[in-house]
Amino acid sequence: MRHQTIHRDNVLRGKNIIIGISGGIAAYKTPQIVRLLKKSGAKVRVALTDGATRFVSELALATVSEERVYRSIFPPADTSGTDYTRHISLGEWADAFVIAPATANTLAKLSAGLCDDMLTALFLTLRPRKPVLIFPAMDGQMFLSASVQRNIATLTAQGCRVINPDSGELASGLCGVGRMPEPESIVASLQNALHSTAATSPLYGKSVVVTAGPTREKIDGVRFISNYSSGKMGFAIARAAAKRGAMVTLITGPVHLETPPEVTRLDVESALEMHDTALSCFKSCNVFIGAAAVSDYRPLDPSEGKMKKENPEIELTLVRNPDILAEFGLQKASGQLAVGFALETQTGLGNARKKLKAKNLDLIAFNFFDRKTSGFEVDTNILTLIDKEGVTTELPLLSKDAAAGQLLDCIEKLCVYTPGINPLKNV
Ligand code: C5P
Repeated sequence: MRHQTIHRDNVLRGKNIIIGISGGIAAYKTPQIVRLLKKSGAKVRVALTDGATRFVSELALATVSEERVYRSIFPPADTSGTDYTRHISLGEWADAFVIAPATANTLAKLSAGLCDDMLTALFLTLRPRKPVLIFPAMDGQMFLSASVQRNIATLTAQGCRVINPDSGELASGLCGVGRMPEPESIVASLQNALHSTAATSPLYGKSVVVTAGPTREKIDGVRFISNYSSGKMGFAIARAAAKRGAMVTLITGPVHLETPPEVTRLDVESALEMHDTALSCFKSCNVFIGAAAVSDYRPLDPSEGKMKKENPEIELTLVRNPDILAEFGLQKASGQLAVGFALETQTGLGNARKKLKAKNLDLIAFNFFDRKTSGFEVDTNILTLIDKEGVTTELPLLSKDAAAGQLLDCIEKLCVYTPGINPLKNV
């Protein structure tokens, strides 16, 4: 479950926020979002779909927002002239647009550009760089369906911030992913988005995909091959990129770390799962950062149950896993950047340079491994950054957060000089 607290200084004071509500059960929680925003000093207008009115009353929303609420783009026949273009003036008025809950139907309409009500029309009239936060909430299977995921990918590529739903009990009585985050968490996401809008990082609005942690390769139903990676470096990179306003997807193997704020986390177990998940992000991402310690090999034929210790010796045949980063590097289009790590126990700088070339990377971080101060598990790292022109930056022993900051500084420079990467169009 995602937990966020409102910890920033009050970026909401005086801001004009539109809340778009579509017809899911979570709509009953939306008056609370409006109340929290009003309490923080924001002005709030509400646009809701016909379906939403089944779950939350317009009168309740009008009362808490102290404003008339909007449903149709067509005003009543007896209204004055300016009301006919209300969707345009509201779009100009808004500093940010929050769509919560976003149903599968509304996501499809938004991604296709349909605009048959005030909510969807407003979406089209917002100026670029105004944050749009979308909170899908629905049944878990619906959320994971190919169509919903495709629509989310489209909206993300347009610059919308689509925040993954929480996991837990769903309206159907089933458990799974699909719950709308709590109103407090939604308000915290909005605060973060408003902060980062002001940021000037070249990573702002970019789609950054980070792989992190170890993978587990099944030997049998209860055993696996893995490594000591804790995921700390990848998570630090994801956290730092989100702070700079990037839209971050973190694909992680099994780790014991909290999801950084504003980061979409996708949990995987094996290298093949990580590969498949990463593959679906290849086209839409601007920067791919491979910080995961992916197992190079997996058992050819894992057994289902628990292997019995009948024989004094057994043989395990291992086969190569796909190299995810190399696959991205070798197929990346112009305007995409590939960044990798090379964890080496010896001097290894030469090896890192070889990997940079072989995997067609734009930047590689040679990661010295000594198990005490640098490498797996520990909170610090010693990195040497080498870009594809051969420019080499030796970093001292740093915390993983600080090392992530230096790595992103380097990536930002590459962004500035990479044709086609700037700027990613916002909605
Ligand atoms: O070749 P080597 O495993 O040392 O390369 C390390 C880099 O490649 C890291 O950035 C790691 O995340 C990535 N990698 C990958 N898929 C693999 C192996 C490594 O993405 N199967």
